[in-house]
Amino acid sequence: MYNVAIVGSTGNVGRKFLEILEERNFPIKNLYLFASQRSAGSYLEFKGQKYIVENTCEENIKNKKIDIALFSAGGDTSLKFAPIFSSYGAVVIDNSSAWRMDKNVPLVVSEVNPEDLKNHNGIIANPNCSTIQAMVPLKALLDKYGIKRVVYSTYQAVSGAGMQGIADLEDGLNGVAPKKFPYPIAGNCLPHIDVFLDNGYTKEEEKMINETRKILHDENLRITATTVRVPVLNSHSESINVELNNPFEIEDIFTLFENTPGLTVYDNVSELKYPTPLEVSGKDDVYVGRIRRDFSIDNGLNLWVVADNIRKGAALNAVQIAEVLINNNWL
Ligand code: A2P
Repeated sequence: MYNVAIVGSTGNVGRKFLEILEERNFPIKNLYLFASQRSAGSYLEFKGQKYIVENTCEENIKNKKIDIALFSAGGDTSLKFAPIFSSYGAVVIDNSSAWRMDKNVPLVVSEVNPEDLKNHNGIIANPNCSTIQAMVPLKALLDKYGIKRVVYSTYQAVSGAGMQGIADLEDGLNGVAPKKFPYPIAGNCLPHIDVFLDNGYTKEEEKMINETRKILHDENLRITATTVRVPVLNSHSESINVELNNPFEIEDIFTLFENTPGLTVYDNVSELKYPTPLEVSGKDDVYVGRIRRDFSIDNGLNLWVVADNIRKGAALNAVQIAEVLINNNWL
């Protein structure tokens, strides 16, 4: 049994941590909830019991003997507090982008590269939500055929922008101006997630490119990305165009994906069967459909990949990482 802390417990992903820990009957001895000073003193429920939310500060961390700290409180909080939790003996699993590209920090999707957890130094990074769901089918393709190039186009839900993102969509449907996004998201699409970089890409696009290379252990993999926020409450969708190194039969891709842990093939267009965000929300697996050859290039493949960005894209993957650590004695 383990002492578990949730940092950012009052947030969108924080609450999902609680739900998933309960669902999976995670072996918790003591549970500690942290957020900002704003919500200190409020209560959240876990397994029918009320838990107090504490301010995130060293004083409140040091005597708790925390084994695992699940973080989802933004990059600045992670940068400041992950090393502090770690210095008191906790293994931090962080949802923010703060540590992902640090060479000493494993960046892990639980079914894809669990072995990278073996040599952690107390901080582990959960990849970006849009990267996580792409990795599950791409790793299977990489291992069997090799990958030459990937083109990502994403259709990302507002829940990925936290409580404020959800509020912007809900308020926007009633004509209220947005607070989180620069333009209304209701009835709109914004080709803009995270900040713009000097090269014209957004940081979200850069994250997908760099994180994919790190997780698949190929620094030179050719990847491009366009990430778009759409007026969907929850679950990200992605069109992924892949150029494989070797020829394939489309039936073999179906078989490969059917045998890939964490992936559900949901594809039968004659019955109009393809994954949608509404269908996939609340599910653990990554869903893949519209599996078809790209006839415009040699060894080209098109996929439509949908996953619950708050579950597999965030809280679930972090909890699965904790389970891998426990099951392998890697804590
Ligand atoms: P709080 O509710 O006290 O603001 P979301 O991304 O869904 O908006 O959630 C962000 C989470 O991060 C919330 O739990 C929020 O707590 C927490 N948080 C924000 N700033 C800090 C901070 N400086 N220290 C600790 N937690 C923070």
